[in-house]
Amino acid sequence: MIYMSVTIGTPLQSSAFKVLLLGSGELGKEVVISLQRLGVEVHAADRYDHAPAMQVAHYSYTLNMADAEELKQLIEKIKPNLIVPEIEAIATQVLVDIEQQNIATVIPSAKAVNLTMNREGIRRLAAEELGLPTSAYRFADSLESFRAACDDIGYPNFVKPVMSSSGKGQSRVKSFDEVDAAWEYAQTGGRVNQGKVIVESQIDFDFEITLLTVRAKNAETGEIETHYCDAIGHRQDSGDYVESWQPQAMTPAALEEAKRIAHKVTTALGGCGIFGVELFVKGDKVWFSEVSPRPHDTGLVTLASQYQSEFELHARAILGLPVNTSRHSVAASAVIYAGIDDTNLSFSGLNLALTNPNTDLRLFGKPEGFKRRRMGVATARAETTDQARELALETASLVSVKQN
Ligand SMILES: Nc1ncnc2c1ncn2[C@@H]1O[C@H](COP(=O)(O)OP(=O)(O)OP(=O)(O)O)[C@@H](O)[C@H]1O
Ligand SMILES: [Mg+2]
Repeated sequence: MIYMSVTIGTPLQSSAFKVLLLGSGELGKEVVISLQRLGVEVHAADRYDHAPAMQVAHYSYTLNMADAEELKQLIEKIKPNLIVPEIEAIATQVLVDIEQQNIATVIPSAKAVNLTMNREGIRRLAAEELGLPTSAYRFADSLESFRAACDDIGYPNFVKPVMSSSGKGQSRVKSFDEVDAAWEYAQTGGRVNQGKVIVESQIDFDFEITLLTVRAKNAETGEIETHYCDAIGHRQDSGDYVESWQPQAMTPAALEEAKRIAHKVTTALGGCGIFGVELFVKGDKVWFSEVSPRPHDTGLVTLASQYQSEFELHARAILGLPVNTSRHSVAASAVIYAGIDDTNLSFSGLNLALTNPNTDLRLFGKPEGFKRRRMGVATARAETTDQARELALETASLVSVKQN
């Protein structure tokens, strides 16, 4: 017998199938568009008004999602079928309770959201429980224990607040002289739980990849199966992605190992949806770095390279629908930064950027820009990844951002 999956009602009517998105950034915006196309009623929340995903959702809410009471009240008011976290700074204990009481399904699972919001949770799971290869690491919560941890791990090392993302509060410490400054810097970059950091040994990798891994139900049996997109290569600057491309060439042995690691960690986290598994690669050797239980910024390239982008894959997987992770083109993406701190920005040069028919743009519509804030992305298709990267970078550079 064929298993019966989700039934989608009519948005804005009593039969509506409702999704609550927690975090309404540019990745969420694309997820919302994908859900809208499938007739889902979408509710988008963030800490500020007019966030990108709010602009395409049916309803939007501005609140502090790290406040357990505020978050609980919102969920009780909306009564969503699915709760889809798009950021890490959420009162995750509320989601654990919601899942336990069967009030809504948390994507991909409350456990996954809870463990990955903190570097300590996911690192201990990956390295200590699952036995996956990672950099050497220590945790420290005082200057004294931090100095000892740095000496233990050696130099250069990477220091990161346990609750932070996009490179905030992160530094590469080259010698003992830099230790105290790195501690001070880490204290300014953490989200909550100020103080605790991870010290990681530097992995001397050839390149780093994101292996987008999808846990989705088989259309006939309803069993959850694991699918992989082709590896995405990327370049990071100060802990933030600046360009990505797909596919990243790698040895068959490294690819197999990457899939083994991704399978192990995503199976342990559970649920349905897409995961961005970040890995370091050197020859045939692969190290696990971290994982996001949601679309990944470097995966924006899939808008140009795959039949189903990472956002469509996520939308389908969380609804219990089958997915297709195959790629039709070689492509690359390059980030468009604001370059200035201001609101009400304007974007021009779009005709020049889009002259080449193999290019495309997304402008996120963020109400405020900062020098290093991502405001858009350029994508490009070409014969080779080198050509695609060059074209994507050129496309991004042709977009000019101006004050009004
Ligand atoms: N142990 C390490 N060895 C070598 N490079 C590292 C190490 N840790 C981090 N890096 C470099 O710094 C980048 C950012 O690190 P990481 O992904 O842990 O930070 P993040 O704040 O979670 O970033 P994002 O949110 O953008 O993924 C990595 O992609 C890699 O380029
Ligand atoms: Mg990362």
